[in-house]
Amino acid sequence: DVARKGGFQHYMLKEIFEQPDAFANTLSVVKRCNEFIDQIRNAHSVTVVACGTSANASMVFSYLMERVCHIPTRVVLGSEFKYFPTPGTDLVIGVSQSGETADTIAALKLAKNLGAQTLAVTNVLGSSITRVASSVLYTRAGPEISVAATKSFISQVAAFMQITNLLSDHQIEFELAEIRRYLPDVLSLDLSKAVELCTAADTLLYIGRGMFYPVAMEGALKMKEISYIHAEGYAAGELKHGPFALLSPETPVIGMCFPDAVYPVMMSNLKEIKARSAPLIALGRKDDKDLDEVADVCISLPAVSEYGAVVLSSVILQQLAYHTAVALGRDVDMPRNLAKSVTVE
Ligand code: G6P
Repeated sequence: DVARKGGFQHYMLKEIFEQPDAFANTLSVVKRCNEFIDQIRNAHSVTVVACGTSANASMVFSYLMERVCHIPTRVVLGSEFKYFPTPGTDLVIGVSQSGETADTIAALKLAKNLGAQTLAVTNVLGSSITRVASSVLYTRAGPEISVAATKSFISQVAAFMQITNLLSDHQIEFELAEIRRYLPDVLSLDLSKAVELCTAADTLLYIGRGMFYPVAMEGALKMKEISYIHAEGYAAGELKHGPFALLSPETPVIGMCFPDAVYPVMMSNLKEIKARSAPLIALGRKDDKDLDEVADVCISLPAVSEYGAVVLSSVILQQLAYHTAVALGRDVDMPRNLAKSVTVE
């Protein structure tokens, strides 16, 4: 077992460290998937069906598709698709690391029966979902043992970024190369101060805007899966519509705030949070003095594009969950009540 973990204490940590390779690998694999990409290119609108972490990665895809490719794209949870399937949607993509999630497969089958064209994105060769879809994209992240998904998420995001890059004639080629360059750097950050705040928390709120909203949801999902601390991912603008009532010194907030178009409004959200005495952990750009001033703990990322910040923050939030769970003595690779893939509807 020790040998299989490659010297790491847990599979999850090993898989976190495999992400620079997984990301690069998926980028090159997708470049060869012309047929798959052409089917998306020809679509008028896209529905993505997925569960759990795969649904969060799919949400990043929907932002990219709308923004970079201008193709209307919605994400529907596999378990909810049957309640509002739209036969008019011409392309349905099932996204599943294992390719065995019953709800996602059922949704894809239903879409097919309704006449939709179906595609699949999966990590596992020959998995059940590949028998439903007319064309398959393999992310090739390598086997993932830990129940909590890490490298499979980063590979899905890599696939979605590369698909949009190719669909829009290499608009984000530079950003993708930059992510590959900087990914190893974020594996050695010292997160101990943030971990200390998290281990003492009753509830954690993760907030972001745009693509950082799904990043926040995935960060919160990782935390609750393996540390058993209640955590919610929220669109930052929604805080005042409810979660503000939860803010207290026992409710740390983790905010993603990078110098992009939403920086001013994110910054004012963070100040509102501080004014309500919640501890604030901020992920932002190195040398951002204003952010340093407002946050209790600042986790600094190198100066990368928004795309880079999406990937690098996701990796940092995985590590935050991991180290918090280890500090609390949790069974990191096999959290209670959870399974790697859920094969019943
Ligand atoms: C389970 C796993 C999650 C995973 C989800 C969807 O809940 O514990 O890590 O995200 O299933 O799995 P899939 O294989 O379809 O991506």
